[in-house]
Amino acid sequence: MSAPIFPQDKVLVSVEVSLKPSSTARIDDVRSAVERMLEKRSLSYTDGPVPVPPDDQFLTENVQRICICDTDEWVQNHEILLFWQVKPVVHVFQLSEEGACEDVSGDGQPSTFNEWILPAKEFDGMWESLIYESGLKQRLLRYAASALLFTEKGVNPFLVSWNRIVLLHGPPGTGKTSLCKALAQKLSIRFNSRYPQCQLIEVNAHSLFSKWFSESGKLVAKLFQKIQEMVEEENNLVFVLIDEVESLAAARKAALSGSEPSDSIRVVNALLTQLDKLKSAPNVIILTTSNITAAIDIAFVDRADIKAYVGPPTLQARYEILRSCLQELIRTGILSNFEDCESLMLPNYGSLKEKLNMPEVQDARTLHMCKQLLETAEACEGLSGRSLRKLPFLGHAALASPYGCDPSKFLSTMIDTARRERSELPD
Ligand SMILES: Nc1ncnc2c1ncn2[C@@H]1O[C@H](COP(=O)(O)OP(=O)(O)OP(=O)(O)O)[C@@H](O)[C@H]1O
Ligand SMILES: [Mg+2]
Repeated sequence: MSAPIFPQDKVLVSVEVSLKPSSTARIDDVRSAVERMLEKRSLSYTDGPVPVPPDDQFLTENVQRICICDTDEWVQNHEILLFWQVKPVVHVFQLSEEGACEDVSGDGQPSTFNEWILPAKEFDGMWESLIYESGLKQRLLRYAASALLFTEKGVNPFLVSWNRIVLLHGPPGTGKTSLCKALAQKLSIRFNSRYPQCQLIEVNAHSLFSKWFSESGKLVAKLFQKIQEMVEEENNLVFVLIDEVESLAAARKAALSGSEPSDSIRVVNALLTQLDKLKSAPNVIILTTSNITAAIDIAFVDRADIKAYVGPPTLQARYEILRSCLQELIRTGILSNFEDCESLMLPNYGSLKEKLNMPEVQDARTLHMCKQLLETAEACEGLSGRSLRKLPFLGHAALASPYGCDPSKFLSTMIDTARRERSELPD
């Protein structure tokens, strides 16, 4: 006899429901409708979109997209999550279409920050487009979720200490800035029942140390006054992103050595003090990035709890990044030339080995393309995620005839382009 399944044995799976921009339905109503729909569906759970049932008028009117997330954490070795093993956790949200709101002071000064209302349309799909191995994204999500939970439950910080500072460090172009923004977006969706409002403030550290130094002190004060106001509203979740945080340390050092106006040291110190103050607020998460892997000489990041190294993509990640590029070129018709091209699905890295081992049951053309794609991914060793995402464009530009290109021919050009790009890498 098999063991009874208790509700607490169920696996929690996030289901994200994006509302149409026009929808005015109540979040709770949509959540219940989706829960009922999932219950009726009785299918297995895998990452990806769930079609909105066309006969459900309420859902078709209000819902743009339903998506199952993060099941890969539970399913290893091609196991399948069956519906009765799962407790879906439904998150309903509506994307803000406002876009970045710059702080324009109007007197020709560079803006000191950008602000977004989250979840923002601009960041939709960003999290999914970032590909890392070894569960980096899940780890970040869980860390941040625990930090917010500890705060919410009022855990005494003298007894258990934690902070809400994230530091992503690693070489250029590995997606650190994107990952910070995508993480903020994800958390705004996952925590929207606790924090119905959410903002992301991206501080332009560089612009604070511009030639308008005499104004910088005022700019910092103004910026933090604004952040402080947001934070005081306890239903707000505020993310503060400080990109290339090492520039703060560098500016301070330069000021101390006298090569920068002495004003700058005051500005850096003011900024660091303000951040230090801010980090005690329960509803703030400070996101920082750095290209320097060695310890950064700034006390507040030094104590970051959530530190993660973001490295160049591994073979598997390279294959997946290039695969997503190729699928996009097929979707848009840039690559075509055979009838069923639109429906051509290249297998993911996980099922690639299996496919290569059983060549007889595969479509010869798809198999050939997989091999080429793998070869391209191998040729790209050492390239950053940023270079990889540019490669299909460079490859396409190198083609003799840019229209209706055959995917397989395109891939051969890509391999050459990859080799050329690699040969231009500094040693
Ligand atoms: N692992 C990855 N998976 C998918 N895309 C990636 C990956 N790494 C980088 N990219 C792509 O590269 C682009 C650049 O990323 P981003 O600017 O976030 O990198 P960065 O690490 O902040 O770079 P820098 O250190 O130069 O500031 C992004 O648009 C992203 O799509
Ligand atoms: Mg960056």
